[in-house]
Amino acid sequence: MKIAMVGSGYVGLVSGACFADFGHEVVCIDKDEDKIARLRQGIMPIYEPGLDALVEANARAGRLSFTTSLAEGIKGADAIFIAVGTPSRRGDGHADLTFVYAVAREVGQSLAHDAVVVTKSTVPVGTGDEVERIIRETGTPHRVSVVSNPEFLREGAAIGDFKRPDRIVIGAEDDYGRAVMREVYRPLFLNESPILFTSRRTSELIKYAANAFLATKITFINEIADLCEKVGANVQDVARGIGMDGRIGPKFLHAGPGYGGSCFPKDTLALLKTAEDYGSPMRIVEAVVKVNDSRKRAMGRKVIDALGGAEAARGKRAALLGLTFKPNTDDMRDSPALAIAQALLDAGVSVAAYDPEGMEQARPLLPEVTMCESAYDAITGADVVVIVTEWDAFRALDLNRVKQLAKAPVMVDLRNIYKPEDMRAAGFAYVSVGRG
Ligand code: UGA
Repeated sequence: MKIAMVGSGYVGLVSGACFADFGHEVVCIDKDEDKIARLRQGIMPIYEPGLDALVEANARAGRLSFTTSLAEGIKGADAIFIAVGTPSRRGDGHADLTFVYAVAREVGQSLAHDAVVVTKSTVPVGTGDEVERIIRETGTPHRVSVVSNPEFLREGAAIGDFKRPDRIVIGAEDDYGRAVMREVYRPLFLNESPILFTSRRTSELIKYAANAFLATKITFINEIADLCEKVGANVQDVARGIGMDGRIGPKFLHAGPGYGGSCFPKDTLALLKTAEDYGSPMRIVEAVVKVNDSRKRAMGRKVIDALGGAEAARGKRAALLGLTFKPNTDDMRDSPALAIAQALLDAGVSVAAYDPEGMEQARPLLPEVTMCESAYDAITGADVVVIVTEWDAFRALDLNRVKQLAKAPVMVDLRNIYKPEDMRAAGFAYVSVGRG
């Protein structure tokens, strides 16, 4: 199969490299000349474990190439994937579909053969209909089937998620679209990965429903964690206790500082917008968005409390360990670290920070934070050490060294990576999430 991937960002690049690894011939297309030039040299635009090796191996094998020309890249492609960004539209939270529609138009204008056009970008219900309309409007004489194929991969685990998915969802309206998509995913089909065929609109909604549900699950356990702190219960045991119920499941029940990233915040807002447009309000998701937003800043207050309250905190210093919204990524989008750092700075607490991969992205977003060379650098002279992101490198800190370097042995662990009893035994005043 020949596949064109329009948009070489996170989803496009990972999907393109994985399809090539399955043996398909893949061309990744992007308007950003610098990005394409760097990709040709094997330089990745994002940090994702294993991606550089996968891209390099498949490029070397001649199955993966890069171009800035859409017309060139889609030549002879059986499937043309649209994997461009759909950021939140400024002002109203609706997904901004400018890039998706621009690609649809260019595809229609450049197409010289029959093809299946697949939307992989996260797009609101009805976008496929509009993509189809735009392509038809270009007057192309070729047969085009527009298909929805949402992506469920997680940053930091993207390649594994792509190659061993829980399911593949394909929303197609005709046999041509279904047949080509079956071929595209044949390697996974043979692998016994479940493939769910639905209507196009259903498939588009599945993506939003999945992300909104996961965001709800996290927010639910976060509120249970708050209650645990009040009643003297342990949220990890509660999560275990409810997660053993097969109907609930154990995953996505880690209490923490609130969800961030490029997907949950944006997709929950876009779902609310769709619900509003169709007069079908989603009050649960509305509450999730509000609770999660206020939680991030509340985590800053938790740190201030650990410093002895607002008055005592003024003039003190906090060390933030981890800045990215989760480990194994350099992505800072909607990271809880941003709200936490701001809350601390507003309270007159100076902030030093270290992140294994996120420093470059974080620096412009947190100009008042002192960026350090290592975790221990950040800890030096700190009145409180705050674990914001659960990078493996922070799981086994040398606690004696931490005590020596810090001004006071106080730790706020927003990811529950240490055990309260161990920390107490090591002489720390230790605060975590939902462990009373
Ligand atoms: C999420 C979904 O998990 C993917 O299935 C989906 O494909 C992707 O969005 C997308 O729409 O593209 P991602 O944003 O990479 O993936 O990250 P997650 O691992 O889902 O984490 C999201 C946030 O939730 C992070 O801030 C994480 O720390 C937080 N989280 C996650 C928790 O606080 N507790 C948990 O138990 C799980």
